[in-house]
Parts: sequence; structure tokens; C-alpha cells
Amino acid sequence: MALRTRFIDNEVMQATTEGTSQFVLVGAGYDGRALRFRQPGARWFEVDHPATQPDKQRRMSAVAPDAGGITFVPVDLLRDDVGTALANAGHDASQPSLFICEGLFTYLPNAVVSSLCARLRAVAAPRSVLVASVLVVPESGGGIAQRFVNSLLAALGERRLGIFHPGTTESLLQSAGWTVSRRAASADYNASSRRLLLITAEAE
Ligand SMILES: C[S@@+](CC[C@H](N)C(=O)[O-])C[C@H]1O[C@@H](n2cnc3c(N)ncnc32)[C@H](O)[C@@H]1O
Repeated sequence: MALRTRFIDNEVMQATTEGTSQFVLVGAGYDGRALRFRQPGARWFEVDHPATQPDKQRRMSAVAPDAGGITFVPVDLLRDDVGTALANAGHDASQPSLFICEGLFTYLPNAVVSSLCARLRAVAAPRSVLVASVLVVPESGGGIAQRFVNSLLAALGERRLGIFHPGTTESLLQSAGWTVSRRAASADYNASSRRLLLITAEAE
């Protein structure tokens, strides 16, 4: 979590320094980044499933009744078109955006992640950036510990649908029209275990 937070926070600060004023949390969940970084002139869009987003909104209005600058965009990424939903919510595709996909890809089938990245690219003005955290498993499948974690999450209703091997995320982003620019991985990586990949790609 520390690595994820630090890496993505740095992307937010860099984008802000470069003049980006639109930030899109895709699969926002309970991320508090919009509250932590919102400032006058910046627009934050929180995209999440219509079944779960109202709970976040309720909790957020309790702690931050004035959530100005934050727009909630209910989207089922398995069915709905995120580009259209963002446009309807006021996202300006002619201005650069930072798209943040933290802890999301594993919960979507790879084909949906591909079309999501392509759709975000289609509404990404030049100088836009996409940053993602991805759980990468080795070709061998990650061993018994990984299978145990997956079954546990499935029992809790969080089924992992996406499978990302080394190199999968890079080629997926490139095919969707993004140019990979920065990467970091958890230090515990070795060939037989899963690792956390943090990856940044740019719309040129
Ligand atoms: C593990 S959480 C990550 C939340 C947040 N980005 C973070 O890092 O703390 C995954 C998020 O993806 C969202 N998600 C999963 N499947 C989705 C779908 N089909 N449509 C929209 N959101 C989805 C979930 O609702 C959840 O908020």
C-alpha cells in the first residue's frame, strides 16, 4: 500500500505541476485521494460501480459535506461506456487528464481492461497520463499462496477476473494507444511469486 500510494501521489503532484486539472479515479472505491488533493481549479471524477458508489458518497458527505470539485460517475465497467459517462459528467476530452486505475485491473477480465484503456485513450488529450497498479503473477500461476488468496477473496465476493503476467500490462497499454513511460515494482519480486507493478503511460 505504501508503495502504491507514494507512486500514485507522485503522479498526481507531477501532473498538477505540469498544469493538469482533471483527475479521474477509475474504480475509485474508498480512495480518499480526491479529498487529499482537491484544490481550486482542479476537477476530480470518481468512477465506480453504481451498486457501491452511493455508500462512498454517504460516508464522504459525513466527513466532508462540501465535496466541491468532486464529481461521482456511476459506471459498470463490464457494461457501460466510460467515455460517454465521463463526457456526460463534464469531463473535457480536449484538456489533459490524469487517469488513475489503482487496484482495479485484477477485478476485470483482460479484454475489458483492454477496451477500458482504449476508451480512456480516446478521451485523453495530448499530455494526458494513465497510472495503474497491477498485481502481476508469474506464468506458473503464482503458487498455492496466490490460489489461497484468490479463493478467500472470491468467498468474500471479490472475484479476481484479470490475469496479468510479466509484460501483459505493457503490451495491453501499448495496444490501447498509450506509451509506457515509468514503472516500479515491489521489492519482494522474484520469479516464482506475485509482485505489485506500478506503471505510468502517456498519451502523446
Ligand atoms: C480493490 S478496489 C480499489 C479501490 C481504490 N482504487 C483503491 O485503490 O483503494 C476495486 C474497485 O473497483 C471497482 N470495480 C470493480 N468492478 C467494477 C465494475 N465492473 N465497474 C465499476 N467499478 C468496478 C470496485 O467497486 C472497487 O471500488
